[in-house]
Amino acid sequence: MAVMRAGGFPFLREGVDWWRSAVVYQIYPRSFADSDGDGIGDLPGITSRVWHLAALGVDAVWLSPFYPSALADGGYDVDDHRDVDPRLGTLADFDDMVAALHGAGLRIIADIVPNHTSDRHPWFREALASGRGAPERERYIFRDGRGPGGAEPPNDWQSGFGGPAWEPVGDGQWYFHYFAKEQPDLNWDDPGVREDFRTTLRFWSDRGVDGFRIDVAHGLVKDLSEPFAPWSEVAEVTRADGTHPLWDREGVHEIYADWRRVFDEYDPPRFAVAEAAVHPTRRARYASPEGLGQAFNFQMQEAGFQPDEFRAVIDAGLADMRVSGSTTTWLLGCHDTLRVATRYGLPRDPDLNSHQVGQRWLLTNGAEPVADLALGERRARAAALVLLALPGATYVYQGDELGLHEVPDLPPESLQDPIATRSRGTAKGRDGCRVPLPWTPDGPSFGFGPGGAQPPQPAWFGRYAVSVEADDPDSTLSMYRRALSLRRSLTSEEEFAWVSDPDESVLHFVRPGGWHCVSNFGGAPVELPHGTVAVSSVRLEDGRLPRDATAWVLVED
Ligand code: NOJ
Repeated sequence: MAVMRAGGFPFLREGVDWWRSAVVYQIYPRSFADSDGDGIGDLPGITSRVWHLAALGVDAVWLSPFYPSALADGGYDVDDHRDVDPRLGTLADFDDMVAALHGAGLRIIADIVPNHTSDRHPWFREALASGRGAPERERYIFRDGRGPGGAEPPNDWQSGFGGPAWEPVGDGQWYFHYFAKEQPDLNWDDPGVREDFRTTLRFWSDRGVDGFRIDVAHGLVKDLSEPFAPWSEVAEVTRADGTHPLWDREGVHEIYADWRRVFDEYDPPRFAVAEAAVHPTRRARYASPEGLGQAFNFQMQEAGFQPDEFRAVIDAGLADMRVSGSTTTWLLGCHDTLRVATRYGLPRDPDLNSHQVGQRWLLTNGAEPVADLALGERRARAAALVLLALPGATYVYQGDELGLHEVPDLPPESLQDPIATRSRGTAKGRDGCRVPLPWTPDGPSFGFGPGGAQPPQPAWFGRYAVSVEADDPDSTLSMYRRALSLRRSLTSEEEFAWVSDPDESVLHFVRPGGWHCVSNFGGAPVELPHGTVAVSSVRLEDGRLPRDATAWVLVED
């Protein structure tokens, strides 16, 4: 059996390289747990549920933004990077939460949003108040409008959330916002911006944060020199040569080399993971040890539940590891995508990837086509065991450990996502995967908190409550707990080898220590290797693995 060494590190440094193989649980703070009954999840809520994370067996928590914000984009519109939103708690609550997480042996990763601030940030207020040509405008991207009085935007570029990417400020100037108009883009040529983010990284590192997730990591450095290229050229998102005016320009790596020096001031050095939607060949650079250290690999979110698609994504992720010397990240979903249990229940479309199928389905409020929810859940479990058996880090989005489904039919007035609100009904946005978690089968918000929940939870949420699944040995939660506890005891080495199987619907690979992961993507039940079946996503049938299922088998050499 050919064994392919996947990672490039000769050895793992105790307490330093924890992130290479970590299972990281993503908390979307506003919908995790609410301690005070205002319907918004908060930091004391997280502290009160550290037991769930410890029982689940994850290694770390990634906290989506918890900073003061008007929530124009779910908190990714930051008013102040060095404080806590009063609705979510205080800095003292943050310290208590870190102490509780560390006390349970869990690390914490904070989300840093350097591409933009909110329009309520003091810098942006100053920029507006100080007028045309003022140095305060240099922190953002202001340009004169075209036509008489600058009444037309500087160019035809569009926001990623729909509509124009420029907003007028009333004096003939416009500011650039790739995301919502409440999220003005920062100008990273400004030394004050650079200095301030160093301060922010130290601020949270000093408070015990172990690592950072860097939002829009590929977007900080822009070429807005004129003449502007038309949007028809700029709209294309990834380029392999670094020439895109908005994305993945060489200059971003200078910023991360600078941040690396800040990370290395700490013992152990802080770690970071880039959210960088770049050409796959350019991901490794973000993950280099001189840069952020790791880069998200989102390809699994686009793959359908098909053996060839899984295999291609796994091969690409492992190839990344060989190039970067870092590990890749595996994930099935996050706060930006349709819940995986639902996505896998939708019929395939040969012209669309799995993510696009989900987006189209949302536009029908989840009515068309009819999703096979049980099948989706079963496949999501099978897929989770595949990801958790791979070398590298795995990120689990809150609620996926329960097999929770998307809520596709939220009342229109409860939608908060700018993708939905800016689209005038042509897009549904991301609210359906951000509905507060169910903790108990009943109660006003299924145990989320003493009050209600926003967006509202549907009646069927109670079935997926943590307390219900904890009591059921066949639940998704119980499977995750078994798998995570086993994963800890298995290996920290990064070797991986495919095992060929004549059945095309089977994917089979082996890790050191005789750890075999076998998945049956369709067809008749399949034989498993001789050994101990340590965990399985469904019950076996006469010792064989049925379709849409994965098992881990420990085989003695
Ligand atoms: C990526 C985040 O994951 C998403 O939620 C956010 O809307 C954009 N970046 C803009 O900050």
